[in-house]
Amino acid sequence: MSPRVIPSIIGVIVSLNAAAWLASPRADLVVRPADMPVPGRGEILIRNRALAVNPLEVKQGTGDLMYRWLSYPMILGEDVAGVVEAVGPDVTRFSAGDRVVAYAVGMERGRRHDAEGGFQLFTVVREDLASPLPESIGYTDAVVLPLAVSTAATALFQDDALALVPPTPGPAGTGTGTILVWGGSTSVGMNAIQLAVAAGYRVIATASARNAGFLRDLGASDVVDYRSPDVERDILAGLSGESLAGVVAIGPGSGAPAVRIAAAAGAKRVALLSPPVSFGSIPRRGRRSAAFIRTMSRVAIGQLAIQLRARAAGVRAGFVWGSTLMANEVGPMLWERYLPDALADGRHVCAPAAEVVGDGLESIQHALDRLHAGVSARKLVVTL
Ligand SMILES: NC(=O)c1ccc[n+]([C@@H]2O[C@H](COP(=O)([O-])OP(=O)(O)OC[C@H]3O[C@@H](n4cnc5c(N)ncnc54)[C@H](OP(=O)(O)O)[C@@H]3O)[C@@H](O)[C@H]2O)c1
Repeated sequence: MSPRVIPSIIGVIVSLNAAAWLASPRADLVVRPADMPVPGRGEILIRNRALAVNPLEVKQGTGDLMYRWLSYPMILGEDVAGVVEAVGPDVTRFSAGDRVVAYAVGMERGRRHDAEGGFQLFTVVREDLASPLPESIGYTDAVVLPLAVSTAATALFQDDALALVPPTPGPAGTGTGTILVWGGSTSVGMNAIQLAVAAGYRVIATASARNAGFLRDLGASDVVDYRSPDVERDILAGLSGESLAGVVAIGPGSGAPAVRIAAAAGAKRVALLSPPVSFGSIPRRGRRSAAFIRTMSRVAIGQLAIQLRARAAGVRAGFVWGSTLMANEVGPMLWERYLPDALADGRHVCAPAAEVVGDGLESIQHALDRLHAGVSARKLVVTL
């Protein structure tokens, strides 16, 4: 091939990618061209067929809160499912044409922020954060999983979180005891229930009463309504005097009751996943508001109160960051050894249910706005 042909082919390829860019804090996403990402060592390039949205992306869109190492314009997005377009050097688990679901970590520190961002037509992902997708599972169903299942696994199995025994290959887990999943009907919670049950633990979960049946279907033994004034008493009664092996606290305000229950039931560890107050009152558009300052002050005071309470009770309550599994054994345990078989044989189901809210990158902003308004036991998904 003549050297002059190569740049023109590259030019065609470059024009084929597009992303939903966040150009400045609190702006709406804008769809425009993006460079075609090239997979490096141990990475694969996915042609995305479905994307899902997460509270973390809503928060970043609300006020430049968390990912301070990202610079504008930026590509958000963590949940992708699609077809492998190309593989980088040393990739052994995938070939072009494979159907996959994957956790895109472009928003994380030290990653290639644009190439690995989820909200684009083509995304580079690490092969050790991807799972083959059986023909029986559609892209829109599978794409509910990546950040949620990764965060759940981090909370349950990482050494600095609950450090539980992970699932082993085959149907029976070897863990013993009971886990409380506060916020069981969240995306993270539904995956935490399944992982804990697969690992052999009994699970008590909280959710609104209307979602209790879903959680029982996923393997929870008891489901208690977290809005009930008796929620803490009912959870302790459900233990029948047994001690708790750990608590996963999901949802705004979950940390305080989680620590109280851990202290009363003898659990030594609580994995905190959410801030002590909701960010829902912060307007998404416009200038930084009084609501923003009020909310952040309440977050700081709430965190301090949780830590003081936990320390006094001898409970370790640590904040868990879902992406940390990419730097330890939990990542390969989940993405290479557990999910491929568990998805294929139906042991792990794609939960929560996907709700497709639009087609095309232009629909992602709508999905984020819908998520900001609140969802119940649903994952908002965009098809491409
Ligand atoms: N630290 C991390 O790395 C990390 C990663 C991912 C997510 N998160 C956090 O984890 C939380 C859940 O995220 P997600 O994507 O799983 O959420 P999601 O699927 O959007 O959660 C929706 C569910 O939240 C439940 N919910 C609402 N308020 C609650 C509360 N105060 N306590 C307990 N449950 C509540 C609702 O349950 P009902 O309808 O049954 O009432 C609803 O079904 C968010 O706070 C998110 O920021 C943290």
